[in-house]
Amino acid sequence: MGKVYSAHSVSVDGYITGRGPAPGRGLGDGTVLFDWYFDGDTPSRVFDGFRLSESSAKFFDALAGRDGAIVAGRNTYEDSDRFGGGSPHPDAPLFVVSHRPAPEITERQTLVTTGIEDAIAAARKVAGDKDVGLMGGGVLTAALRAGLVDEVVLHQVPVLLGGGRSFFQELPEHIHLRLLEVVPAPGVTHLHYEVVR
Ligand SMILES: NC(=O)c1ccc[n+]([C@@H]2O[C@H](COP(=O)([O-])OP(=O)(O)OC[C@H]3O[C@@H](n4cnc5c(N)ncnc54)[C@H](OP(=O)(O)O)[C@@H]3O)[C@@H](O)[C@H]2O)c1
Repeated sequence: MGKVYSAHSVSVDGYITGRGPAPGRGLGDGTVLFDWYFDGDTPSRVFDGFRLSESSAKFFDALAGRDGAIVAGRNTYEDSDRFGGGSPHPDAPLFVVSHRPAPEITERQTLVTTGIEDAIAAARKVAGDKDVGLMGGGVLTAALRAGLVDEVVLHQVPVLLGGGRSFFQELPEHIHLRLLEVVPAPGVTHLHYEVVR
């Protein structure tokens, strides 16, 4: 069975967006978080148009190439302009978690309104032996609370954004992590953790 993990670009002060994320505005004033996707000279083997440093490409493609399904929170879905009716990943279908109906959902997307457990179970079924990637701080926190996360990756960008949406939100108890790998790269440090159960 594949893993359930989340990988986000995050500022050193823990934000996954800048101030003012919204539909049509993406990450708000936090677009610096994604610079490392485009300022290298090694094309991603998974995502068309991404040009990373050699070390980032190796780390990024190893993860992205294992994605079999994506579970995104409603805020990520809306702020990303509903991914144009498709998925954020070229090969992995999208599941959106929300408590509300989503009239704009397309037949290429799946809305789950019965909770994070159901969303991850449905995504796992589609992913088979590949991984399920979680997108959004709220969704990651909900999945951590439910004990469903195997690994957490921080693509840590050396900036203090000072505001935005937090990567991690409040948890009822400590969750211990084991560091698996650190990859320093131009403009970003990749931190790969395993959740200790
Ligand atoms: N830096 C990066 O790498 C990166 C990656 C991904 C996303 N982002 C950005 O992060 C921002 C979104 O993060 P976020 O933390 O604000 O939100 P999020 O996790 O994308 O979405 C939170 C919403 O998802 C729904 N949800 C979460 N847990 C649920 C549960 N257990 N059951 C049912 N619904 C649940 C709720 O929607 P309802 O209110 O509809 O119920 C909740 O308000 C976006 O701006 C996105 O672009 C950045």
